[in-house]
Amino acid sequence: MKNIKAIIFDAYGTLFDVNSAAEKCKDKIGDKWEGFANFWRTTQLEYTWLRSLMKRHKDFWQITEDSLDKSMKVFNIDPSMKNELLNLYRFLSPFEEVPETLKKLRKRDFKLAILSNGTPSLLNELVKNNKLENLFDDIFSIEEVGTYKPDSKVYDLPIKKYEIKSNQVVFLSANTWDVSGGGNYGYQSIWVNRNNNIFDNLDYKTKNEVRNLNELLNLI
Ligand code: LAC
Repeated sequence: MKNIKAIIFDAYGTLFDVNSAAEKCKDKIGDKWEGFANFWRTTQLEYTWLRSLMKRHKDFWQITEDSLDKSMKVFNIDPSMKNELLNLYRFLSPFEEVPETLKKLRKRDFKLAILSNGTPSLLNELVKNNKLENLFDDIFSIEEVGTYKPDSKVYDLPIKKYEIKSNQVVFLSANTWDVSGGGNYGYQSIWVNRNNNIFDNLDYKTKNEVRNLNELLNLI
């Protein structure tokens, strides 16, 4: 990969494990915790796309709560658990290799940033709670443009700030649709395929796929 000026990461599912909230409550939720966690995440993303199309923006924290409400009803989870589950979203754990890989990348001559659906305060808190705050040049939030990924206005944010071309960005996401969104925009998108999943048919095929962030170090 050549001519790279910035390495940009998606946050949820890529740096931070979104299932870790429900997993921390698995004793109380029981065997259905994983199905519930996946349903919550899928509903949360659907709400981002639907609200963008309807032009009825709500921030990611409100969407996380709205999707949690629906998911708890679908999975018949005791309503008294709502605040506990929602608050865990503020303390998601990073995937194991993330801190070390970011420290190694920090020594190289690239801009390092997050580009995420999360609100600025959620993202700052998450980065701080996991002691990653000194590793990024910027944390770009979709709140700056008031619409969600994969709108190109979102992928424009680092291009405008760094005054670089879209193909000078290496963008990493574990979310296949976000890899396609960034790739169609012009980024060199890389899929972080942690669970041996199947890629989407959305007009972009990534040239590079990694199983974790550590493998990125062999590509750049
Ligand atoms: C984000 C979602 C896509 O962090 O995971 O933007």
